[in-house]
Amino acid sequence: MKISYVTDPVDVDLGVIDLFDPDFYAHGDPHPVWKVMRDKAPVHRQTLTDGRSFLSVTRHADVLAVLKDHTRFTSRRGTLLSILGGTDPAAGKMLAASDPPVHTAMREPMMKVFSFSALKSTQPQILSVVHRFLAPLASGKPWDLAAAAAGFPMAFAGALMGLPEEDWPRLTRLSTMAAAPDDSVFGAEEGGHHNLLSAHHELFAYFADQVRDRGVERDDLIGFLTRMDAGGRRLRTDEIVYNCYSMLLGANVTMPHAIAATVLALMENPGEYARLTGESAQTALAVEEGLRWASPANHFMRYAVRDAVLSGVPIKTGEAVVAWLGSANRDGSVFADPYRFDVQRHPNRHVTFGFGPHYCIGAPLARIALRLLFGEIVQLVASFEPAGPVRHLASNFVSGVKSLPVTAALRDGASAPLTSAVADGGRLPSLPTA
Ligand code: HEM
Repeated sequence: MKISYVTDPVDVDLGVIDLFDPDFYAHGDPHPVWKVMRDKAPVHRQTLTDGRSFLSVTRHADVLAVLKDHTRFTSRRGTLLSILGGTDPAAGKMLAASDPPVHTAMREPMMKVFSFSALKSTQPQILSVVHRFLAPLASGKPWDLAAAAAGFPMAFAGALMGLPEEDWPRLTRLSTMAAAPDDSVFGAEEGGHHNLLSAHHELFAYFADQVRDRGVERDDLIGFLTRMDAGGRRLRTDEIVYNCYSMLLGANVTMPHAIAATVLALMENPGEYARLTGESAQTALAVEEGLRWASPANHFMRYAVRDAVLSGVPIKTGEAVVAWLGSANRDGSVFADPYRFDVQRHPNRHVTFGFGPHYCIGAPLARIALRLLFGEIVQLVASFEPAGPVRHLASNFVSGVKSLPVTAALRDGASAPLTSAVADGGRLPSLPTA
């Protein structure tokens, strides 16, 4: 999705805007649209040609209100526009598709595995992944950073889940196919629905095998899910499979775009890149700004289970309500100069990881990995240069850059760690580029 620097005044006809259409995010630009919605139509209804409809909320305060309150807005009927009006087979079985207290009973024990302190020991492993990922820069040739970033999370999410390395490229591809089934890279002629079903089918069958094969004996996240106490009982196989699927997608379809969009913003704002020294507190702020800027998870949906009022607009029980995170992250009432990419922005109350009971369980892992990555980038790379056109993913869910060819001028002495990373490890999986 294009990430633009909106300047006043904006002229958009909301009557013809289609926020559902995946292609709008490959070629269009939702930022001016969201600005008009925040200013003039904070709760905006869109009706599809088949009669299904949803309400869009775009203000930061309304997005928080929807995400935090499961007593008014449930997650059990589907949380993505791709299944608008349908039923969610994962309801009550997968964290993201459950409400408390079922959600709390599953989530509390899992939090132990995903806490900062539990993940601290993975830092050396993630650093070696960072070096392998950046290694192609040493050649000085153009490198598609976005396509390569697709494989970055798999190298530690796969390790955390104990998944065999030879499966990682396939899992990388299936994850993006499940999250962005309408993108041309997955064969537009088959159609998005077909792609979605076939990715789901393969991933569920894959995880069912993983759980069945060794299940409880495993010394990894799958083993943990098999053994854990979820409110006085063990999880069933289907619940473990759904949660593995959700964790794989959670990592694979979001982090690559946080990386690509941040590098793109740093290229577009060289003055901001020049402000970075690699000092850790400063890198952490820059990563948060990159997360706000990228907002890789573009929306999450809920259904109203009681009548509600948002920004003075009544919402009826049963309505689908879509919270646009990318819009909330540009709300001028919360972020000063919201269209400025400011690597030292503080405070930065972005909603990139959501809010409330479903706040991203992988946020500590994502932050550890992104801080290590951008810390290293600043140490090794003097500047990035564009080396080809930027292409965006066709998806209303993932705000994605699918192709970002770059070259880099390395700092003195930077090639050594990168060249030895290639010698030490294999290649990371990447996405095919269509
Ligand atoms: C930049 C990276 C990431 C972004 C932007 C992101 C974004 C989000 C958001 C917005 C939610 C809230 C969903 C909702 O309210 O319905 C969420 C939930 C979730 N994320 Fe992430 N995520 C990221 C990384 C990860 C990673 C690395 C993992 C797993 C290792 C992960 C696994 C999950 C899971 C399982 C949930 C559901 C939590 C629940 O319902 O309690 N995410 N993520």
